[in-house]
Amino acid sequence: MANFFPRWSNLLPLQIAVCLGTAVGGIALAFAYYATPKAQVVGYQPAQPIPFSHKIHVDQLGLDCRYCHSFAEVSGHSNVPSGNTCWNCHQHVQRDSPKLAPLHKSMDVNYPGYDGKPIEWVRVHKAPDYVYFNHSAHLARGISCQSCHGDVNKMEVVYQAESHSMGWCLDCHNAPEKHLRPLEEVYNFKYDAEKYLAANPTYQDGKRLKTQEEFGLLIKDMFHVHPKTSCSTCHH
Ligand code: HEC
Ligand code: HEC
Ligand code: HEC
Ligand code: HEC
Ligand code: HEC
Repeated sequence: MANFFPRWSNLLPLQIAVCLGTAVGGIALAFAYYATPKAQVVGYQPAQPIPFSHKIHVDQLGLDCRYCHSFAEVSGHSNVPSGNTCWNCHQHVQRDSPKLAPLHKSMDVNYPGYDGKPIEWVRVHKAPDYVYFNHSAHLARGISCQSCHGDVNKMEVVYQAESHSMGWCLDCHNAPEKHLRPLEEVYNFKYDAEKYLAANPTYQDGKRLKTQEEFGLLIKDMFHVHPKTSCSTCHH
């Protein structure tokens, strides 16, 4: 039989569920969803005002994510660094690179076109306004940037590596053991659970652990990691 319903009608049961609970909130939620253009897709890779390479700064120079994204660890929101952070180095290094003209415009009082305005980075990841998300709540519980943003350390230009859809959030909330790491490995983009366990023998009930999932389950038990899945967790 032909399918007379457009794809989005699959969402109707969800909206009905929401509406039954909180009529006003539910309608507002559904409206917000359909009124918001879906720019957020895997592979979204906007051009940036300066061709800033994570590959150079993280992989080659060895900078930690927190050197620039210093709020992620301590607050709900992860910041993009201000021009000061770049200027610390680039008033000395590669000073004359034409790629850095927007930085000089923002930071260098001796630059002819100086205006002191912040660099206008184009935002890549954006959750809809009706979704509550918190960075530090994840990092402090053993979830790495890498699980949600992919191999940023290898990116010449940042792109969206994961869907960030509701189903994606829930996949991990239902089975965080696939991602949980020891806290000291959360910012290590070369982390590999099997290598870690080979170097640091870890046992549970006398059995030596070998895989990410076995280790993740141990971490989950030990630290009582229980991500919630009720609607109000992410929709206030
Ligand atoms: C030297 C500073 C610096 C370091 C170190 C750095 N970043 Fe960034 N990051 C930036 C800047 C500047 C941007 C905005 C421009 C862009 O998207 O390339 C950015 C953008 C991002 C974005 C996209 C933000 C958005 O708009 O959605 C993510 C995700 C990100 N960084 C993750 C990381 C991770 C993970 C690490 C560690 C592996 C890291 N960054 C290390 C400077 C840095
Ligand atoms: C810790 C010092 C340091 C910081 C902080 C830093 N950089 Fe760099 N950056 C370097 C070094 C060193 C190089 C040269 C790497 C090479 O050539 O191998 C470089 C290279 C670059 C290049 C390539 C220049 C060219 O002509 O090839 C750009 C563009 C750049 N950085 C932008 C930025 C921006 C934007 C920021 C701030 C978000 C930033 N950098 C922060 C040290 C730094
Ligand atoms: C559990 C998944 C998850 C983890 C872990 C995570 N992020 Fe994010 N990140 C997101 C989501 C979702 C957004 C969009 C949030 C929003 O719009 O409020 C985002 C947005 C960002 C942004 C853009 C913020 C802005 O206002 O421009 C940056 C930068 C960023 N993340 C960097 C990082 C860094 C660095 C780490 C590790 C230190 C990290 N993230 C860890 C899911 C995650
Ligand atoms: C890779 C795994 C993973 C992904 C992906 C993920 N989460 Fe989580 N989330 C967790 C873990 C682990 C916790 C912490 C649970 C605990 O503390 O017991 C958590 C906690 C939370 C909390 C509670 C924070 C607080 O303030 O207490 C919220 C809200 C949340 N996540 C929203 C989201 C949203 C929205 C997304 C998708 C955009 C998402 N999460 C994606 C693993 C994940
Ligand atoms: C772990 C976080 C999380 C939980 C729990 C959660 N949601 Fe969501 N929800 C999201 C995110 C993230 C989006 C935005 C997805 C996007 O932008 O594609 C979303 C979007 C929606 C939408 C818009 C349509 C859609 O599917 O994209 C509705 C309706 C919705 N959620 C209802 C619910 C209901 C009802 C529950 C409880 C059964 C619930 N949500 C539980 C994270 C969550």
